[in-house]
Amino acid sequence: MILPVIMAGGSGTRLWPLSRGNFPKQFLTLSGKASMLQNTISRLQGIEHAPVMLICNEEHRFIAAEQVRQLGVKHNGILLEPVGRNTAPAIALAAFKAVEAGQDPLLLVLAADHVIEDVAAFQQSVSQAAELAATGKLVTFGIVGDKPETGYGYIKRGAACEHGFVVDCFVEKPDLATAKAYIASGDYYWNSGMFLFKASRYLAELKAYCPDIYAACELAMQVQNNDSDFVRIDKAAFEACPDDSIDYAVMEQTKDAVVVPMDAGWSDVGGFAALWEVSAKDAAGNVFNGDVKSVDTKNTLVFGGNKLITTVGVEDLVIVNTKDAVLVAHKDQSQHVKAIVGQLKAEL
Ligand code: GDD
Ligand code: MG
Repeated sequence: MILPVIMAGGSGTRLWPLSRGNFPKQFLTLSGKASMLQNTISRLQGIEHAPVMLICNEEHRFIAAEQVRQLGVKHNGILLEPVGRNTAPAIALAAFKAVEAGQDPLLLVLAADHVIEDVAAFQQSVSQAAELAATGKLVTFGIVGDKPETGYGYIKRGAACEHGFVVDCFVEKPDLATAKAYIASGDYYWNSGMFLFKASRYLAELKAYCPDIYAACELAMQVQNNDSDFVRIDKAAFEACPDDSIDYAVMEQTKDAVVVPMDAGWSDVGGFAALWEVSAKDAAGNVFNGDVKSVDTKNTLVFGGNKLITTVGVEDLVIVNTKDAVLVAHKDQSQHVKAIVGQLKAEL
């Protein structure tokens, strides 16, 4: 059985000031009526699966619970992390929870903040991956990349196997020169950040390669406090857990990974430029949310918030108005918003 595990603990700083510490990216409704988290859950309709398990920070529990309630779907509990320790521990907690009842489901690990345009293609890759994962493989989903993004993992395709390829090597966040060489070679996929494996296989690999994370998570799960939707764990034990992502902690190390290609209009909406790219545009390439009046404006993204926003004679801008902060950025530079967030944090 497939048990979807939805990771909703990121901070999404590159979408500041829409994404905030107390209301991060995965909970935002960036287009249409549903949030990114809700779209992630809805996209599973059509795949036979157990009710989803969510894992997020304690601080966001009510937002997560309310968004799931709005969808009217059953869930398998919302695991709460007292502090963020990145994705390797988060997935470990979910895996320990999943094997508690003596079962060993296939964990479909999903990021809560991705856009996938072609749901049927996504579901087809998942069903192919399920066959591989059932044999004990750790499956990654590979995206054909078109630029040397340094914020992604890169997966080198090895020998073909049924439904995919053996992973020759996995390199998380290479430097620019390396990423350029990988893209030029045509031998690498981007890592989508979604995974499928048996819970027991993940735990075994984690124990082999990062015994400290394994031990801290095992200990943290020994004290559980169930309170309606929420599962709380031992705070002190989890605080002592090293911080690491699944990509460095397990995927770069394991000898048992395979990659299933996914061509599904995937985007991790890594910043405002990416958000503009995946949004529906008017004839001038503009994406206007809210009350916007414009003259001679092209390829511009506006979130108007509670104000009338007007633009004249500009192009490639990002303008975001929120209650307490306004961002004006060149679209090609908008990934540097992270630096502003860094400055603001430093001033606190
Ligand atoms: N529960 C929980 N706890 N979730 C977390 C935590 C945490 O401590 N940290 C991150 N997440 C969630 C984020 O909300 C996101 O949905 C997902 O896990 C991935 O985390 P990111 O922080 O966004 O990772 P990344 O973008 O740097 O890199 C990953 O994704 C890329 C594709 O978007 C890696 O898997 C890369 O290899 C991959 O290319
Ligand atoms: Mg990400």
